[in-house]
Amino acid sequence: MKPDIAFGDFFNFAATANSQEILELIYSKPHKESLIKSKNFLKFKNLISSYIYSLLRTMEFESCWLISCKSIDFKILLGEKIGFDARCLDALHSRMFEKLAFRYLPIASVAYSKNFANSVNLQDEHEIALFLSSLSQDLYENIQSYLTDADPTADEPTYITLTNIKCELVSQLEKLKEWSRKDFPIESLSSTSEDICCYSGSEEIPAIANFPGKSSNLSFSEASIVTHKSYADLMSDNEKLRRFSHYVYIDVEVAAMEVCAKNIVSYKQMPLDFKLDMARQIWDEARHAVIMRRLLEKLGGKEGDYTYSAKVWKKCEKGSNVTERLAIQQAFQEGNALESNFLLTEAFRNADNGEMTKCMDFINADEAVHVKIGNFWMKYLLDGNTDAYQATMEKAASLINATLSSNVEINRVARRISGFPDAFVDVIEENNKVYGYRKS
Ligand SMILES: [Fe+2]
Ligand SMILES: [Fe+2]
Repeated sequence: MKPDIAFGDFFNFAATANSQEILELIYSKPHKESLIKSKNFLKFKNLISSYIYSLLRTMEFESCWLISCKSIDFKILLGEKIGFDARCLDALHSRMFEKLAFRYLPIASVAYSKNFANSVNLQDEHEIALFLSSLSQDLYENIQSYLTDADPTADEPTYITLTNIKCELVSQLEKLKEWSRKDFPIESLSSTSEDICCYSGSEEIPAIANFPGKSSNLSFSEASIVTHKSYADLMSDNEKLRRFSHYVYIDVEVAAMEVCAKNIVSYKQMPLDFKLDMARQIWDEARHAVIMRRLLEKLGGKEGDYTYSAKVWKKCEKGSNVTERLAIQQAFQEGNALESNFLLTEAFRNADNGEMTKCMDFINADEAVHVKIGNFWMKYLLDGNTDAYQATMEKAASLINATLSSNVEINRVARRISGFPDAFVDVIEENNKVYGYRKS
């Protein structure tokens, strides 16, 4: 059983919790009415809470840095790390739900929280990697000590979860160490400091860049680099396919990572589940970027052979709140791309490109999840009001100077899998008749 969304609504809980509730969280002493009677159980529960604190704040910092850093390799590394943090957070958060918690705020020592306060101004990619590597190493050691002290039978669900996290942390550390050679001194999660702080969602984070960073080998241009007229045309010309793969690599996949990273840090009041969904998408887009770069390089091209336009980032910036941003990116643009991607996949298959046909099937499955995420959170933010959903989608289309129609013929099954209301799909189908298919 998963915790419901309100269980991870830290921002509102921090704002409304009374001082008694906060004191109980901070000192975590079993008291008369407490459901928990042993200090030992509380100790382990608080350790899980501190891992959640660490991972959540790390994920927010990584999201800021993913936008501002220049190297695409480093953006991909951060994207993969954000995905890992989210998987750990998801498992530990569920475990907190199972540990007799009605609601909670992630806690850590004040000394540990200063690691973040001291790192908000880091900009250099190697220094950021050093910092993240030290945090991961410290988490690894703390998990090791939890596993040594824990009762592997009584606490088996946590024991297995932490054993898996520890194992995956090893490969995360290896990747980070390729960017960092020395140590970055930090205060440990096991700090003996008496002063404890709770995550509230209003902690300082690194500056959110107005425009995503790019390395100097990439030049900006508004002009489109794509020259093919149809997918058949694309498959018959390597130069056109190189242009297309470069465009998807930088202007679609990397840009989607940046857009979702901004959603995590600009809307910190959103519940944990929202951040986990955005993190899941960032991780997927990082893999898609790797796949498209692999295709580009296989065709003899490389990053920087063409310009980038930041079209996806700029369109999303036209949304004035998180609902509109989700409508523009996940529901409208990715919703439409889902249908055209099926045709692209078929074109790869017709061109006997088995490798890309297989990869596209995986990408399409991920993309359906992204659209579903967008639709789910739009409905959540609009209290399930279908008229408000329709109005928001219409506004999203007009904000990016588009009509509310699809790129190609509607695929009802794909639209249903990805959570579109049937009435909305009917409207797009009608609009297709009036306006014709939308030019992407
Ligand atoms: Fe993607
Ligand atoms: Fe996507």
